[in-house]
Amino acid sequence: MKPQRTAVLVKPDGLQRGLIGEIISRFERKGLKLVGMKMLNMSDEMLSDWYAEHKEKSFFNDLKAFMETMPIVAMVWEGIDAVKVVRKLVGTTLGREAEGGSIRGDFGMSQQYNLIHASATEDDAEREIAIVFNSNELFSYHSVIDSVIYADYEVK
Ligand code: CMP
Repeated sequence: MKPQRTAVLVKPDGLQRGLIGEIISRFERKGLKLVGMKMLNMSDEMLSDWYAEHKEKSFFNDLKAFMETMPIVAMVWEGIDAVKVVRKLVGTTLGREAEGGSIRGDFGMSQQYNLIHASATEDDAEREIAIVFNSNELFSYHSVIDSVIYADYEVK
């Protein structure tokens, strides 16, 4: 099975709440591998591309304005089925209904202020990663714990 890469943003509310370390820690403990990370102000153009699917929605401009209020932390996580795994750890959109044990379920109450974004599909992941990262900002490396995260047959 080939590892996938998926994009994560810690949104302005996650930054303000001091949840960056907690969020990174949850993905690390799960066994995902961090292969890219940066802090940046997302431009209006980047956000229009990022949220293209929400272009016609009533909250589109408010969402972009909120994301522009301060820097966000963008990450790329790698692992087998990483898109699905990260979405599960993040939880459903509405914080107050998200499953306990998930990031939104444990720390969020809101729909807009839902702390974190995670790619929904492999195609979204590829598109989103390219919006924020150049290829030389993404890393491939051997981790000493790889051999206890997956059995040999899973990584062949
Ligand atoms: P996410 O799923 O990461 O990407 C789209 C974001 O739009 C979503 O998180 C919420 O932050 C935001 N969002 C979704 N629905 C609404 C809504 N009804 N009003 C305001 N923001 C929303």
